Amino acid sequence: MTEPNNLDTLLKENRTFEPSAAFIAQATVTDESVYQSASEDPQAYWAQQASYLSWSKPFSTILEWDPPHAKWFSDGVLNVAYNTVDRHRENGRKNKAAIIWEGEPGDSKILTYDMLGREVDKAAHMLIHLGVKKGDRVVIYLPMIPELPISMLACAKIGAIHTVVFGGFSASSLKDRIIDADARLLITADAGFRRGGIVPLKQNVDQAIIDTPIEKVVVVQRVGADAHSTMIDGRDLLWHKLIETMPKTPFAPEPMHAEDTLFILYTSGTTGKPKGIVHSSAGYLVGANTSMRTVFDIKDDDVFWCTADIGWITGHTYLVYGPLSAGATVVMYEGAPDAPDRHRFWNIIEKYGVSIFYTAPTSIRTFMKWGHDIPQSHDLSTLRLMGTVGEPINPEAWMWYHEHIGHGRCPIVDTWWQTETGCAMIAPLPGLIKTKPGSATKAVPGIAVDVVDDNGTPVTPGHGGNLVITKPWPSMLRTVWGDDERFRKTYFGQFSGMYFPGDGAHLDEEKYIWILGRIDDVMNVSGHRIGTMEVESALVDHPAVAEAAVIGRAHDVKGQAITAFVTVRDGVKTSPELMTELKNHVVVKIGAMARPEEILFTAELPKTRSAKIMRRLLRDIAEGRALGDTTTLADPSVVDSLKLQYQDKE
Ligand code: PRX
Repeated sequence: MTEPNNLDTLLKENRTFEPSAAFIAQATVTDESVYQSASEDPQAYWAQQASYLSWSKPFSTILEWDPPHAKWFSDGVLNVAYNTVDRHRENGRKNKAAIIWEGEPGDSKILTYDMLGREVDKAAHMLIHLGVKKGDRVVIYLPMIPELPISMLACAKIGAIHTVVFGGFSASSLKDRIIDADARLLITADAGFRRGGIVPLKQNVDQAIIDTPIEKVVVVQRVGADAHSTMIDGRDLLWHKLIETMPKTPFAPEPMHAEDTLFILYTSGTTGKPKGIVHSSAGYLVGANTSMRTVFDIKDDDVFWCTADIGWITGHTYLVYGPLSAGATVVMYEGAPDAPDRHRFWNIIEKYGVSIFYTAPTSIRTFMKWGHDIPQSHDLSTLRLMGTVGEPINPEAWMWYHEHIGHGRCPIVDTWWQTETGCAMIAPLPGLIKTKPGSATKAVPGIAVDVVDDNGTPVTPGHGGNLVITKPWPSMLRTVWGDDERFRKTYFGQFSGMYFPGDGAHLDEEKYIWILGRIDDVMNVSGHRIGTMEVESALVDHPAVAEAAVIGRAHDVKGQAITAFVTVRDGVKTSPELMTELKNHVVVKIGAMARPEEILFTAELPKTRSAKIMRRLLRDIAEGRALGDTTTLADPSVVDSLKLQYQDKE
């Protein structure tokens, strides 16, 4: 099988792929000078991109930059829902499919822009009816069903701030987010379908909202009788009943200032507490919309499928705001790639004639494992462009994607970005840039990135260091909800005036960027970002645990897998049962994506003499590498016994 990215394999990679003449002939961006002009005058570039949106009051200032705070287009007024839905009803796309939705059990639904607009308006009336006002937070905890984008867009229409919580998060994670966002309304479903099973969302909500400010819960009926959810009188309301009673009249979009918050999305950091990333209305949408044209080359007849869940930033930007702002047709699929069998994704591409496909390297590695005869038995000839996101893609997976899915015909856009950046930052423009398997290539026009050493000095080509973004950009996060100091310290505390995303990168001789992954205490498991501290906090929350250290070790499909080293309290006996119990405890505290792959019990954790856990050593042990410097260890024998245990396990 494949090995995830490591510098040795990347440095040996020398294949290059020029855009084909056929692709160039139809590409949206083919003038190379855009890079130069955007870098000379980024503000002019972004102002021009902003003109693709409809403003109810045009902006006169472009950027106000008071590091680390940026304001973009600040005196402009617009409404994001108007820009993503209503204007397309008025500009000839009224009957065009906006969302093609496919449910996991096989049901499906197509919402034209007009139908979507009417649903959003009813939901907007419903939010107002429930007392939601501009600026209020609404928590959305839904499966991948049409009511999810409808709820988000309804919030945008009335000026409420949505915070979507991925349906895989546990009740406890949901509760933390509700409290942090101080939300009074929550929208959920009775349950969701996942890989043939049922995810008990409403049951999680019932637990999560105890001792929180939530006053009302709107419940979409997705599963029905099997969901076993009970409705509480006066608190819980059924979506379909309530919405029927709403006025059928259009809802006038709330005029929003450019800098008004559109949404908060929580993501993991280096501490135990997730951060609420705050995104603005106009700047975010300008970024999302621009990348649809530049990176994804979107055209009116494209069918765009991003396989991410809307609960993550990729789904926010490339299932909802980006493609809809561009008036595109998006495919939204509710379930797993192997439900009911491993043909599901390729069936969907065939069924709807998907032309642009955007997925994660971990999925590609899973498809590789399943064998290329599966996609080969499908007609994938409608595909013309493919993307990847979420983690470094190893060259072998890139080549497999290129050959077996794209049939050598489709450019691949490897897009590096983050929850905080709002949209793709480093990615090829597919009609212009030659690609190299494993490299996200170069920053997109209007984005200034560099690779610097630990003193903040740019490295010369052929060297590695810390990835930084050196200038503000429209879709950058504005702050961390309720904690501006954390925003300042986390992102701008490392290198003065520069944004530090937490990734390491290598700059090659042609100034291509090769992302090497996180260099902080954040793991990337199947493209999901999970803090080591979050998992450690979940483990020490269990009464049997005295201390825990968690690392992400290389894994051939997931990119990284979670390994936990645990010391138990005096008198506790370790056993395989306890191991399972601890894994389940992490699932209950965070969610299934954070379940440790393995737990090793140890009498001691390797620590420096100043009592700092040496994670680097733990990673070396878990990845079977020769151990680096152990001289700073307080008790070097700890490492030997751990190594022996790890070998025994294998
Ligand atoms: O480490 C980088 C990795 O994912 C992190 C951001 O995670 P999140 O905020 O959850 O957003 C994921 C989807 C945008 C980054 O710090 N990452 C994302 N895309 C890539 C990547 N690493 C390498 N190559 C990419 N294309």
